[in-house]
Amino acid sequence: MAIVDDLKTIEEEAAAGIAGAADLAQLDQIRVAVTGKKGSLTSVLRGMGQLSKEERPVVGKLANEVRGRVEAALEARKAELAALELEAKIAADAVDVTLPGRRPAVGHQHLIKEIMQEAEDFFTGLGYVVEDGPYVDTTYYNFTALNAPEDHPSRSARDTFYVVDPSKDDNELLEAGHNTDRLGISELLLRTQTSGVQVHHMEAHKPPIYMICPGTVFRPDTADANHLPQFNQIEGLVVDEGITFGDLKGTLDAFTKAMFGEERATRYRPHFFPFTEPSCEVDVSCGVCHGEGCSFCKHTGWLEILGAGMVDPNVLENCGIDSERYTGFAFGIGAERVAALRYDLPDLRMLVTGDMRFLEQF
Ligand code: DAH
Repeated sequence: MAIVDDLKTIEEEAAAGIAGAADLAQLDQIRVAVTGKKGSLTSVLRGMGQLSKEERPVVGKLANEVRGRVEAALEARKAELAALELEAKIAADAVDVTLPGRRPAVGHQHLIKEIMQEAEDFFTGLGYVVEDGPYVDTTYYNFTALNAPEDHPSRSARDTFYVVDPSKDDNELLEAGHNTDRLGISELLLRTQTSGVQVHHMEAHKPPIYMICPGTVFRPDTADANHLPQFNQIEGLVVDEGITFGDLKGTLDAFTKAMFGEERATRYRPHFFPFTEPSCEVDVSCGVCHGEGCSFCKHTGWLEILGAGMVDPNVLENCGIDSERYTGFAFGIGAERVAALRYDLPDLRMLVTGDMRFLEQF
């Protein structure tokens, strides 16, 4: 009987298709193609009308058996595929808890900021206040009140950035290095030192004064291994009754030991600054050779770290402080210089060019 053969073929093809179905969607396509309304099995059953009375129950029974087996096979494969798909989804979503974690990049303070902060911590620990000052200041605060004579070379446009009024046409003279005070071109400048903050502070506060000012300063220097046109200083000022050079030495020696280590010594060399008398430069003993002499300290055993001195009475008087009653000391520390000495930096430009390989070391 042709119809029996057809049923056999349909069952065999359905079985192969079901076994080979790769996912639930493919399996459903097979279900529709075999047992669906227009499916192959359904259309065979429709053709039963042409069969004889005797054949009909035999073929009908067989067809129902085939339908039953195909549907069972569909169900079984469906359960299998659903389990496989669930497994795949779980595997895709899985977190491998044994993988090493990814460390997020965390920024940190720049080395110079850190040194300034350390200096601040040291001096605030001694009871000093931290003062701020303007980057753009006047010749009065940066030079005149600090006892710098009118013809002091540091006032020239070669050593100071003036904030020039473009409506004035004396710029050529200024560029040629003429003294701006006398030209009357500009009273405004980018501060070349934090020392002017001493004056601002003394105008606003009466002694006793214990003050530091960490801050940026500017000079028309070309950047090279030892110079930057913009760098940082930590200014210090003490004004009180009975302050002596001994206080200056004791304070700066303790500061040096805090910044460089207990074993480091200081020495005081006579120097000149307009705003202090007497003035000195302070050296710290070389950390490489401990004073023996080596290439790091150019065989002197000492490294220069800061300038200091007893506040000139003229400066006190300029700020309305009685220089008969009060004395004081002041100092100026270069933050980049401290960094260079502490970490043996071959070139100050490394501090400002933003190379992470360098910066991440601190
Ligand atoms: N202002 C000086 C400079 O820029 C540093 C300095 C020296 C500051 C002596 C002081 C001081 O207060 O007493 O080189």
